[in-house]
Amino acid sequence: MPVVETIQAYLEAQRREVDRELDRILPPEDAYPLSIHRAMRYSVFAGGKRLRPILCLESGRLFGGDDRVLRRAGSALEMIHTYSLIHDDLPALDNDDLRRGKPTSHRQFGEATAILAGDALLTLAFETLTAFAADRDADAEHAQLRVVHELAHAIGTRSGMVAGQVVDLEVTAETTDPATLDYIHGAKTGSFICAAVRTGAILGGAAEADLDRITTYGEKIGLAFQIADDLLDVLGSKQSMGKAVGKDGRQQKATYPALHGVAQSQKIATRLVDDACETLQVYGARAQRLQELAHFLIERNH
Ligand code: FPP
Ligand code: MG
Repeated sequence: MPVVETIQAYLEAQRREVDRELDRILPPEDAYPLSIHRAMRYSVFAGGKRLRPILCLESGRLFGGDDRVLRRAGSALEMIHTYSLIHDDLPALDNDDLRRGKPTSHRQFGEATAILAGDALLTLAFETLTAFAADRDADAEHAQLRVVHELAHAIGTRSGMVAGQVVDLEVTAETTDPATLDYIHGAKTGSFICAAVRTGAILGGAAEADLDRITTYGEKIGLAFQIADDLLDVLGSKQSMGKAVGKDGRQQKATYPALHGVAQSQKIATRLVDDACETLQVYGARAQRLQELAHFLIERNH
């Protein structure tokens, strides 16, 4: 093993660990009713990068969290993420045929099963988050409850994922100003990414001052991540992305490149990541992985 593991090798190793945990938690394909379990597994194991679980793991590790607890929470995050992708792809929303290089859930299993697979993953995520070992102490129980409460809020209708998705559906680039675009991006994507790093920190036992720093980091990388996603829709290829590209422009979506231009969007994303990394300087080399991850989020090609 080389002394300095590349970010790719590191991500791959972490992804494998998360995948093992997901495989343990998700009902097997031969569990009755087969159709729903097949659909849940199909989308969860379609080849996601597992960025939210990995962010949760690294954030928790910074404060000495237990890897088993963090992996379990990270798996719940990935289930929520996968639910959001399945529903986002539905005909009534983005109507996409391809996701992670494979037919979308509704193309593969039909719309009814896809809707239910999303619902089931969202539900299983909260079952998973509340199924920690019986020997936990009062602090761990409190952390668990706080995580459930925060995550539910982060994906809800008050500046959470559903809120961002709703506004995203209701506006176009023409009718949107930069402040509304920041609301959409922060709510639709940023709040959940921020919740992922907060989840790790809370489960790791971080103090409130540490949580504040992690929150600043999470908010900045969350927005940067969605700006990068907007840019990839303009600059990326269908092959590397595993989904249709150029759709935002065709549908006159409100995006960073549409409102700010490509070069300025790249500049803003880089600045956000630099600021996010700066926030963690107080932790010295211990925060190196989180800083590398922040850079990876905007340098990725898929
Ligand atoms: C790609 O993540 C995902 C996004 C950029 C988030 C977009 C937001 C939504 C789809 C919200 C939808 C909300 C509802 C309620 C339907 P990624 O690059 O990490 O994907 P990967 O897991 O495939 O790697
Ligand atoms: Mg969408």
